[in-house]
Amino acid sequence: MSADNGRSNVMRTAAVASVSTISPITLTAGRPAGAVPRDGFGRVIDYLRISLTDRCTLRCRYCMPTHGLTFIDDESLLTAAEIQIVAEAAAGLGFRKIRLTGGEPMLRRDILGILERIRAVDGIDEIAMTTNGARLAEMAERLAKAGLNRVNVHVDSLDAERMPRLMRWGEPESIMAGILAAEAAGLTPIKINVVVARGYNEEDVVDLAKLSVEHPWDVRFIELMPLGGGEEANFSIDRYVSNVSVRRRIEEALGPLEALANSDPSNEARNFRLSGAPGRIGFISPVSEPYCGTCNRMRLTADGKLHLCLLHDDEIDVRAALRGAGSLDVRRSAVALLLARAVAEKPTGHALREGVHTLDRRMHSIGG
Ligand code: 5AD
Ligand code: SF4
Repeated sequence: MSADNGRSNVMRTAAVASVSTISPITLTAGRPAGAVPRDGFGRVIDYLRISLTDRCTLRCRYCMPTHGLTFIDDESLLTAAEIQIVAEAAAGLGFRKIRLTGGEPMLRRDILGILERIRAVDGIDEIAMTTNGARLAEMAERLAKAGLNRVNVHVDSLDAERMPRLMRWGEPESIMAGILAAEAAGLTPIKINVVVARGYNEEDVVDLAKLSVEHPWDVRFIELMPLGGGEEANFSIDRYVSNVSVRRRIEEALGPLEALANSDPSNEARNFRLSGAPGRIGFISPVSEPYCGTCNRMRLTADGKLHLCLLHDDEIDVRAALRGAGSLDVRRSAVALLLARAVAEKPTGHALREGVHTLDRRMHSIGG
């Protein structure tokens, strides 16, 4: 997955920062006073998304094919202890927030242990999870006890007939039960992620938007992004729906959306509210309104590669450093240096609107 394999047709952006711009690199636990990891474009990068597995039981049409996939083998998956070392290195550099993603993170049998280990890392203020919700009803309380703060749940339709058109093995009833269990367990604020595809679920956006009237939940509509060069990438290009038309459809049915001030510039959603609603409607529009300028993320794949940007193929291997020779301190320092390099070299900009996309990884192996 090297950035220099010559196959990727995405823009490459020269890295203009060096590791020394991230200072001080402290290898003790916790965020050193004043340390803020900044990339070569001046963006603060303090949010690490950790993919725990590339497997998922739902296999959404734009994310995973039904056949022909090879998954990361068990030996290549980072262990809970290795994930803890990365989290410690990240906190030492000034990262504050961690999100567990997949595939489906709850397919990891050691999910509670992973959470407990990250919770114990000094300096990480928030642990979130993006999930398909299928196991949330049975797991919510245990996840909260193990240290999870909140969840984003993926729902493309509330209709039992229509949901499987996109989320192949999704059942709205069990996912809704999962969301309610998450709310009861205090995994709030609840965020619902909706991906809209032309000819599949455009009519569902109104009922999904209504959830923000019935509950204090954020319902976020995400524009399809083509990733990974396979059939899903073509699907995402062919079935793309602009959030401009999603918004129009919601307003025609439910009335005007009131724009809300953006209190967190790194929040990729433009937020709105329906009249009197306790929850919000968000539009995440990477294609029609790219938000690279405020990106604060670094991504770690389940096989231990720092993936520098969702929409580029560049990666840096930390698994080799985690499994290299030397004491725990030596390995932790090596990981911290690689993480600092990944921040310094993080690219910006993409050309999705021109139909240019990544080739190496599909969404389910990066974790959104
Ligand atoms: N385009 C946009 N969003 C996607 N997701 C998965 N695949 C795609 C895609 N091709 C979203 C899902 C998931 C989040 C991590 O990414 O909604 O919740
Ligand atoms: Fe699974 Fe999420 Fe991908 Fe759907 S989008 S297949 S729920 S990882």
